[in-house]
Amino acid sequence: MNLFKEQNTKILVTGAEGMLGSDLVKNISLQLGNHRVLGLNSKSLDITNLSQIENVFKNNSISHIINAAAYTHVDKAEVEREKAELINVTGPKLLAAVANSLAIPVVHFSTDYVFSGTGTKPWSETDVTIPPSPNYYGETKLLGDKEVLKNRINLVLRVQWLYGAQKDRFTFLRDKAEFTPFSDQWGAPTWTRDISRVVLKLIEQQAHGLFHFAYDDYATWEEVYGFVCEELQLATRLIPKKTSEVKLPAQRPLFGVMSNKKLLAQLGEQNMGSWKTSLIEFLNIQKTKI
Ligand SMILES: NC(=O)c1ccc[n+]([C@@H]2O[C@H](COP(=O)([O-])OP(=O)(O)OC[C@H]3O[C@@H](n4cnc5c(N)ncnc54)[C@H](OP(=O)(O)O)[C@@H]3O)[C@@H](O)[C@H]2O)c1
Repeated sequence: MNLFKEQNTKILVTGAEGMLGSDLVKNISLQLGNHRVLGLNSKSLDITNLSQIENVFKNNSISHIINAAAYTHVDKAEVEREKAELINVTGPKLLAAVANSLAIPVVHFSTDYVFSGTGTKPWSETDVTIPPSPNYYGETKLLGDKEVLKNRINLVLRVQWLYGAQKDRFTFLRDKAEFTPFSDQWGAPTWTRDISRVVLKLIEQQAHGLFHFAYDDYATWEEVYGFVCEELQLATRLIPKKTSEVKLPAQRPLFGVMSNKKLLAQLGEQNMGSWKTSLIEFLNIQKTKI
């Protein structure tokens, strides 16, 4: 399939005002044209509302759906359990039920928080997820993955540490004399633009099943912020802290690094590149905005 040539490609993006959703809408518009994407925010389409979902499909001729809607408040999820479960489990389940009944595939996103975080080797798609996961958010995301993967036409992409136009996690350092990054959480900051590129390729290939998005290298937050300070030539003093020193309602997995082997094989690519390359490009764009 060539998404650029297909006459009836129309991709519905839910959660279109979120960090990833907004970047997906922007990138699909840039690559395929405005008319190929329908981005709906939580008001226009509540993914927990079956009749709203049915109406959207009835009134639009949708060929694909990318679900970027989610409950993402990791700490609040410990207390707002019902809400987190409704949005992260029931929502994707309803979306998949309606879409799949029309033979429309769903792309859904998940997280490294489905893993215990106690490993030292990058997590692969076949590694065991351990319920209960370190936190309730992770538990709901895992249940959501399982709902979506019940139909083999669907795809789940696990991602981590997102940043993008809507959430710049880095340039605030300019105004900070000191900052305390975690020294024992491992992963890689991931640009939503890179995910958008990969998702379009996967849709084009009609890929299905479970995949992990990851770059070829990884780091701790301390190393990431050290890199940002160097790149932006900042004098910010980094004072690393351990996860156990901070009392947060939700436990954080320490080792969240994921393997990109399966994804690279699917894409037919040799490597995904370094998180540093993407971050440099992102920081350069942010510089032009000041
Ligand atoms: N951010 C990360 O670092 C990270 C890491 C790993 C995985 N992920 C996964 O990546 C995906 C995208 O995350 P994100 O960071 O872009 O999240 P986000 O910025 O919090 O956006 C989520 C969007 O979902 C919308 N939403 C919430 N409830 C909804 C509902 N019932 N119906 C429709 N829309 C609803 C929200 O709208 P309102 O604001 O109006 O409620 C918001 O716009 C999620 O699946 C998340 O679990 C993210």
